[in-house]
Amino acid sequence: TTAEEPYDSRARVVVVISGIFALSGYAFYYNIPLSRSEVFGELRKELHEDEEFRQSDAHIFIIMGASGDLAKKKIYPTLWWLFRDGLLPEQTYFVGFARSNLTVDAIRAACMPYLKVTESEADRLSTFFSRNSYVSGVYADESSFANLHKELLSLPGGTEANRLFYLALPPTVYHDVTKNIRHHCMSAKGWNRIIVEKPFGRDLQSSEELSAHLSSLFTEEQIYRIDHYLGKEMVQNLMVLRFGNRIFGPIWNRDSVACVVLTFKEPFGTQGRGGYFDDFGIIRDVMQNHLLQMLCLVAMEKPASTSSDDVRDEKVKVLKCIAPVSMSEVVLGQYVGDPEGEGDAKLGYLDDSTVPKGSTQATFATAVLYVHNERWDGVPFILRCGKALNERKAEVRLQFTDVPGDIFGNQCRRNELVVRVQPNEAVYAKMMSKKPGVYFSPEETELDLTYKSRYKDVKLPDAYERLILDVFCGSQMHFVRSDELREAWRIFTPLLHQIEKEKPTPIPYKYGSRGPTEADDLAKRVGFRYEGTYKWVNPHRL
Ligand code: NDP
Ligand code: BG6
Repeated sequence: TTAEEPYDSRARVVVVISGIFALSGYAFYYNIPLSRSEVFGELRKELHEDEEFRQSDAHIFIIMGASGDLAKKKIYPTLWWLFRDGLLPEQTYFVGFARSNLTVDAIRAACMPYLKVTESEADRLSTFFSRNSYVSGVYADESSFANLHKELLSLPGGTEANRLFYLALPPTVYHDVTKNIRHHCMSAKGWNRIIVEKPFGRDLQSSEELSAHLSSLFTEEQIYRIDHYLGKEMVQNLMVLRFGNRIFGPIWNRDSVACVVLTFKEPFGTQGRGGYFDDFGIIRDVMQNHLLQMLCLVAMEKPASTSSDDVRDEKVKVLKCIAPVSMSEVVLGQYVGDPEGEGDAKLGYLDDSTVPKGSTQATFATAVLYVHNERWDGVPFILRCGKALNERKAEVRLQFTDVPGDIFGNQCRRNELVVRVQPNEAVYAKMMSKKPGVYFSPEETELDLTYKSRYKDVKLPDAYERLILDVFCGSQMHFVRSDELREAWRIFTPLLHQIEKEKPTPIPYKYGSRGPTEADDLAKRVGFRYEGTYKWVNPHRL
């Protein structure tokens, strides 16, 4: 048996987490320079004064796959930052588990380049690693998990401690590991939570199998499916911008929005990850999860409250209104080397030695989705993602319809509201304003909220920091529920199967370009308008 917190206490913790944003906003409004750790310190104080949250002080964070890349580059560094900033419960211990015969010192050495430790933090870092231990074992072997359990019991507060299991593992071992955790490693008195990384299957069927397996072992409240885009500042801000303002609500619909463009671009290729990537492709890697999650936050109705399930209920409703993507509204691309490019840019996808010869896997995709409901009927949601493009960028762009009854002789350009997720977080609205001076003609300009200038000293936490802290707090708002996942796969599975069967040749695009022009043609065909007249003058010199 496991002790889960009552629902109410979790909802309260969500409100407290929101307080982190409120606090930093307050500090800057009054020009009080609150440092990052002070802001977090306030948050922590609130969390730990909450009686429900204190129900058991001891926590053990178990990293399954502690020897791997994700553990080294993301999970250990995140735990260290949370520990350093005093955000974790006082008695938190960390246990790594993997096949390799490792020591904590070896893990420390492997993680070191990613921990960003300053000289003054050296002692704190040693304290962090003194809370770490490591158990080597075999994922399919029950006795290895019995050993792990012994280690967990031997830690301070062992029998009472709450346990968080992070599966930083290839999906091939999920079955064995989760079964063994369930049967050998669960805390009898504290709560248990399982954090699962994508990929959650390859299509609807395999995802359903994985979900059925997990739900035979754990309750939905115990499962935290990570989509790290849900931990990003601006992705979380979408809900506040939409539901905390009056100005956007009335125009956030098919009457005023011509199209919505959701973009993910990376300026580098597969970089030796070709083996993994070729099996999945850009649609599974980015579009079906990160971009679709952003779409949900743009398109969903206002939830009844900010409780995890109210929010996720609305996301599921939106997904249910989206028909499977049609091949006729998809453009696929694959990058080729640019002979004039520098370094890696000379190499195409097929030049990566880890990519199978002649692969037709897409490294770029644009797809158009429609939400068939009263708010959005007929509005195209254009999802674009790709590797080896001209820049790093993730953004949400709403393009509004033309001004009706234009009196300015066709000089008005469409308004756009852009939420730039990364890099350089910003919200800007492209709009027409009178050309300053003696003129009376409209000119394109913007209302601009650039975080680096408006919130100069605020250091935004990494997505994983927010999400792991959420798991400690028991907030599932920013995690993917099983019915959301099912709907996401329903939308993309027919397309993915068709691509696998027919193997269409992706359109080649040059490394460092904007991708195939056919993608722009598709966007234009469904209603996106690019004028090429907007010029931004950077007042922030970012
Ligand atoms: P643009 O008009 O340049 O681009 C608008 C959209 O059109 C983008 O989605 C872009 O796609 C697309 N596009 C670009 N070229 C073409 C083309 N040839 N055919 C079809 N579509 C095309 O406006 P932006 O909003 O992108 O702003 C321009 C610059 O100003 C950006 O670098 C932006 O970051 C910057 N800016 C920064 C602000 C800030 O930091 N606060 C505020 C305002 C602007 P794609 O993404 O592929 O290029
Ligand atoms: C991951 C994808 O989910 O997201 C990677 O598997 C991609 O291919 C990464 O590079 C991008 O994440 P971020 O946070 O750097 O935008």
